[in-house]
Amino acid sequence: MPADSMKRIAVLSGAGISAESSISTFRDHNGLWRTHRFEDLATPEAWQRNPLLVLEFYNVRRKQLFEVEPNAAHYALKRLEQHYHVDIITQNVDDLHERAGSTSVLHLHGELKKARSTGNPDLVVELTHWELKWGDKAPDGAQLRPHIVWFGEAVPNISPAIQIVKKADILLVIGTSLQVYPAAGLLGYASQHTPIYLIDPQATGHRDMDNIHLIRKKAGEGVPEIVEQLLTISI
Ligand code: OAD
Repeated sequence: MPADSMKRIAVLSGAGISAESSISTFRDHNGLWRTHRFEDLATPEAWQRNPLLVLEFYNVRRKQLFEVEPNAAHYALKRLEQHYHVDIITQNVDDLHERAGSTSVLHLHGELKKARSTGNPDLVVELTHWELKWGDKAPDGAQLRPHIVWFGEAVPNISPAIQIVKKADILLVIGTSLQVYPAAGLLGYASQHTPIYLIDPQATGHRDMDNIHLIRKKAGEGVPEIVEQLLTISI
């Protein structure tokens, strides 16, 4: 099928899609923000106060990311590309969508395997090793910091994300508590007629939206199921 006649699927993913790859979520029982104070780790003020603590927190997560693999949900989304134009918008800082082969992945909250200059936010470098240390410098000579959008910081990729959702024929929302804005507000940009599938064991309906379908399953089960249905109806 010519790419421009394909229907468009937008995916908004959150920590839940990577849970079955052994990456912690944030707000579930035992989630990262249940066991750690985000104010000490994920804000510009925390970086000013104690950069070593912030570096250590992200180093632990980056080390783990080098050791885990995509799961059935990530691979199923790649299969959707056989018959749809698929754009993934992820709140996750892992690279599991990319490693499963998805070709269009927009990171709203940054990327764990990248760092950026504290002197120039546009100067971003790839990290090939898990450890980012105090004293590691960007090409401009400034200290490198994790390439993560911290609480209180702008979300530069929200504008392209809004455009993707506006154009979508179908929206899949996977493994997110929808508690963090502006990401959670993306659902409001879908057209009234765009079916929205929420795949999350804790998914709940939205009072004023009757185009929402709840699939209360783990991503590793619910995503392959909906993907197989979508591939079947596209033929
Ligand atoms: P949360 O931890 O808030 O929500 C995770 C969601 O995943 C919950 O709704 C769970 O029910 C669901 N879940 C758990 N296990 C699952 C599974 N196996 N399959 C499917 N769903 C499952 O994570 P996010 O909504 O992604 O930002 O959090 C949004 C942002 O808050 C994150 O990007 C992060 C955090 O602060 C930054 O760090 C900047």
